[in-house]
Amino acid sequence: MTISGVPEVEEMKGRTALVTGASSGIGRATALAFAQRGVRVALADVDGDGGHETLRLIRERGGDAAFILADVTQAGQVEAMVDEAAAIFGGLDYAFNNAGIVGTPSSTVECTEDNWDRVIAVDLKGVFLCMKYEIPLMLKRGGGAIVNMSSIAGLVGLRKNIAYVAGKHGVVGLTRAAALEYAQAGIRINALCPGFVRTPILMLDAMPAMERRYVSAEPMGRLGRPEEIAAAAVWLCSDAASFVTGHALSVDGGLVAR
Ligand SMILES: NC(=O)c1ccc[n+]([C@@H]2O[C@H](COP(=O)([O-])OP(=O)(O)OC[C@H]3O[C@@H](n4cnc5c(N)ncnc54)[C@H](O)[C@@H]3O)[C@@H](O)[C@H]2O)c1
Repeated sequence: MTISGVPEVEEMKGRTALVTGASSGIGRATALAFAQRGVRVALADVDGDGGHETLRLIRERGGDAAFILADVTQAGQVEAMVDEAAAIFGGLDYAFNNAGIVGTPSSTVECTEDNWDRVIAVDLKGVFLCMKYEIPLMLKRGGGAIVNMSSIAGLVGLRKNIAYVAGKHGVVGLTRAAALEYAQAGIRINALCPGFVRTPILMLDAMPAMERRYVSAEPMGRLGRPEEIAAAAVWLCSDAASFVTGHALSVDGGLVAR
């Protein structure tokens, strides 16, 4: 670790990370950021084309990675994903449980049971299942670091997205609970709470008018960049964050400070 707390390349070199939702947006940017530090990255996603594009981008830059097709809502697939990642790279040091969806924007009364079940399955149960199978591997290794993807919607309420807000609040809760369970086993578990970040999940191509609303909610007057979230995820995994666990870190341009 350097005095400034910036993770050094050498510290992470040769370690292994698993990133879910690695085919796009923040997951892709984080996979690239890990690879840039010499971390070998298992990329997991339901989107094979996007996953292979992330793989190509990493290899083009001289990094080491593998793509695993997996749906985080399915326990069997999550177990196989984690086992495959460990088999390819010989263990697991870091995990970024990032895969997520927003579902159909709707008020509480309008939210269908299907929408609720789908969003909770991906955003909350998916994170639980990932940790369930990652932690035993980290215990075998004597430690590790997990970052679970929450959102500002895990810290404050937002209108017309009840399932997403509930799921992301749940991620903060399960992060805290698991962090306490494994604090003495050398596994740090934290949550990341981004503000509005320019990725396909915001559907700005389909709804360009929404950009002004997101920007006006952001005190910095701009959207976040995926690389800014990736930097925080990598930092939380690094030894620079060695005394940080059970924390929900907002990386939101000041949005929840309002
Ligand atoms: N972009 C933002 O403004 C923002 C803000 C806060 C939190 N987040 C969270 O960040 C995470 C990443 O989102 P993003 O912005 O990069 O969006 P994105 O849509 O670009 O990426 C999400 C990825 O998750 C994958 N995915 C979806 N369901 C899956 C499943 N069942 N199993 C495996 N993979 C699955 C998608 O295929 C996609 O590659 C999400 O959890 C999201 O809720 C995003």
